[in-house]
Amino acid sequence: MSTAITNIGELVSWDPERPVRADAALVIEDGVVAWVGAARDVPAADEVLDAAGGAVIPGFVDSHTHLVFAGDRSAEFAARMAGEPYAAGGIRTTVAATRAAGAAELTRLAGARIAELHAQGTTTVEIKSGYGLDVKTESLLLEVAVGLTDETTFLGAHVVPAGWDDDDYVALVTGEMLTRCAPHAKWVDVFCETGAFDAAQARTVLLAGMAAGLLPRVHANQLGFGPGVQLACELGAAAADHCTYLSDADVSALADSGVVAGLLPGVEFSTRHPYPDARRLLAAGVRVAIATDCNPGTSYTSSMPFCVALAVREMGLTPTEALYAATAGGAASLRREDVGHLRPGARADLVILDAPSHVHLAYRPGVPLVRRVLIAGR
Ligand code: NIG
Ligand code: FE
Repeated sequence: MSTAITNIGELVSWDPERPVRADAALVIEDGVVAWVGAARDVPAADEVLDAAGGAVIPGFVDSHTHLVFAGDRSAEFAARMAGEPYAAGGIRTTVAATRAAGAAELTRLAGARIAELHAQGTTTVEIKSGYGLDVKTESLLLEVAVGLTDETTFLGAHVVPAGWDDDDYVALVTGEMLTRCAPHAKWVDVFCETGAFDAAQARTVLLAGMAAGLLPRVHANQLGFGPGVQLACELGAAAADHCTYLSDADVSALADSGVVAGLLPGVEFSTRHPYPDARRLLAAGVRVAIATDCNPGTSYTSSMPFCVALAVREMGLTPTEALYAATAGGAASLRREDVGHLRPGARADLVILDAPSHVHLAYRPGVPLVRRVLIAGR
């Protein structure tokens, strides 16, 4: 089965020769991009999909979310907007609500959030546990996540739950909890931050996860300067996410190690922390991804277009750089080569915009520009 997409206003394929081009067509065969070229050369296909002059872009790759949770923290958000600071301890509020919800309710809630993401053009999503913080609930959250994506992350080390001694909890996370969760996860993550886990604890958690076959990624340098980025670089993590407070040494370490810096502008929006300077990272040669961090505490948005617009306006990226970070950057963060671009061989994950160019994603912030979303050609 083949489909030719014609009448494309602008094609963003990230082909190194012609990353963004006009007058292009694209052919999908069996769910994969089979051909990209000039509109006048398009080969015959079983069916034609008319893009009606809209831009065609790769589907967004959201490399950082916490989609499986219950409860609401809008009052905490309102208090922050009135001047209260954000603290890591708010996580425990969501843990209580999540433990109280059953498997069916958590599956329903996460499924509804996935539908929200898809409607806004996200075609690959990473999902973390981290709102269970006991063996039973952490493994349940990952079982729910596995039903929704291949990119699942064990984040038992999100915060130390109420009533636990730090060392005892790290022993649980690296022991029985890891044994139960590892079969459902590709990645291991840790919140390395004051109020969560220090460098030594975070290293212990990541090394145990790696020994169990998981690949490391880190919540790093979100609330202040700290050791998270350096730890991610030391262990060869795929990503150091947040990167809100970076020293010059952190920036050099990211550039030298190739660890992808995950920028999560919804968090700065929702916590009133300062936005990190993405230009500083690009200038140093750091690879950058943009993700939503969709979670009830610090960034309850499921919208990659919103995050792209924020990254342009507040982090100093051009619209093209921001879209690259939200697609190819996300794919690099998840070590995926089959998504995040539309070169031949890519999975046919794409978005047809109700706009002639990808620039409109930032130029028309808040406007629903995603007209059609294809995942593996469907
Ligand atoms: O990525 N930083 C740690 N975890 C989440 C926030 C969790 C919460 O407040 O519920 C984050 O921002
Ligand atoms: Fe997060």
